[in-house]
Amino acid sequence: MKTLFRALLLVPLALAGMQAQAADYTIKFSHVVAPGTPKGKAAVLFADLVDKKTNGRVKVEVFPNSQLYNDNKVLEAMRLSSSKTTGLMAAPSLSKFVKFSKTLQTFDLPYLFNDINDVHKVVDSPLMDRMAAGLDKKGLRALTVWDNGMKVFSIKGDKPLMNPPADFNGMKFRIQSSNIAASMIKNLGGTPQKLPFKEVYTALGQGVVDGQENAWSNVYSKKFHEVQDYISVSNHSYLGYLVVVSDEFWGNLPADIRKQVAAALEEATAANRRFAAAADTGDRKKIENSKYAKVVDMTNAQRAAWRKATAPVWAEFRNEIGGDLIDDVNKLLGR
Ligand code: LMR
Repeated sequence: MKTLFRALLLVPLALAGMQAQAADYTIKFSHVVAPGTPKGKAAVLFADLVDKKTNGRVKVEVFPNSQLYNDNKVLEAMRLSSSKTTGLMAAPSLSKFVKFSKTLQTFDLPYLFNDINDVHKVVDSPLMDRMAAGLDKKGLRALTVWDNGMKVFSIKGDKPLMNPPADFNGMKFRIQSSNIAASMIKNLGGTPQKLPFKEVYTALGQGVVDGQENAWSNVYSKKFHEVQDYISVSNHSYLGYLVVVSDEFWGNLPADIRKQVAAALEEATAANRRFAAAADTGDRKKIENSKYAKVVDMTNAQRAAWRKATAPVWAEFRNEIGGDLIDDVNKLLGR
C-alpha cells in the first residue's frame, strides 16, 4: 500500500500503468550449461515463479553457458559478495564443492546409486543436511538439490569402453574438479584431466582428451557426441547440483520474501526432476538417432567388472568423507 501510494505521487497518472516496477532485490543466477537442459529450464522457471510470488519485488536474472562465471569462480564470487540487495545464486554440480565440503564427496562414489530413485532417497532424507553441513560457515547457503541424471562414458577410438583396464589404458579423460572422479579414472586404467565444462567440447575435438563422463543432456546440448565415437551406458555415478546462494544475502532478505523465494525454489525443484527424467530418455534417443557416436549398453557382467575395478576408491576416501556417513547412506539404500 505504502509503495503504491508513493508511486502514484511520483508518476504522472498516464504513465503509471506503463512503468515497470523496479525490483527491490536482484538475484543473478549463474550456471554453465545450455538453457534447454534440466538445470537451464529449472533456472528460468524459478525466475518466473519468483517474479510472480514476490509481485516483482525480486528479479532473477539467469546467465547460462558460463556467460557470467565458471563454477569454481562463481563459488568464490558468492563467498566474497556482500551486497544485501543483489545476490549471486548458482547450481554447481555436487562434485565442484570439493574445496568446501568433504562430506558432499559421497555423491561421487562410483556405483553408490543404482538409479535416480536411489539418489532421491538420499537427497530427500536428513542425510542431505548432514552432507551439506558447514557450508554456511564458508559463506554458502545450500537451498536444494537439482538433478541432471546418471553419467555415461564417451570415447573417441575404434571401440567402446567396456573392459577395464585394457580399454582405458593410454586414454585421457576429462573430469570435473573431483578427486574421487580422478581416482576412479585411475582405477579404471585411464588418466584423468580436470577441465572446466566450457572447455570440454574443444578439448575432445582437438584430442587434448580422448573421452569424458557426463549426463545425456550435457552430451547432447554441447554436441560432445559429434566428436566422440562411442558412448558406454555405464550409469556409474550421479550428476546433480547443489543450488546455493550467498549466505549473507539470503540472511538479509526480509522473512516474507525469503519464504516466497523458497516456495518458488521448491516448485522449480519438483519441475527439475521432471525435466531431468524427460532429458534422460529424450536426449539419449536424439543421440542414438544421430549419425554420430554409437550408444552401447552394458551387460551385468561388464557393470560388475567396472564396479570391482573402482571399489578401491571407496576405501581411499572413507576416512576423508566419514565412515559413519557412508555406512548410513548404504543403510538407507538397503545395503
Ligand atoms: C560438468 O562440469 O561436466 C558439469 O558439472 C556441468 C554441469 O553443470 O552439468
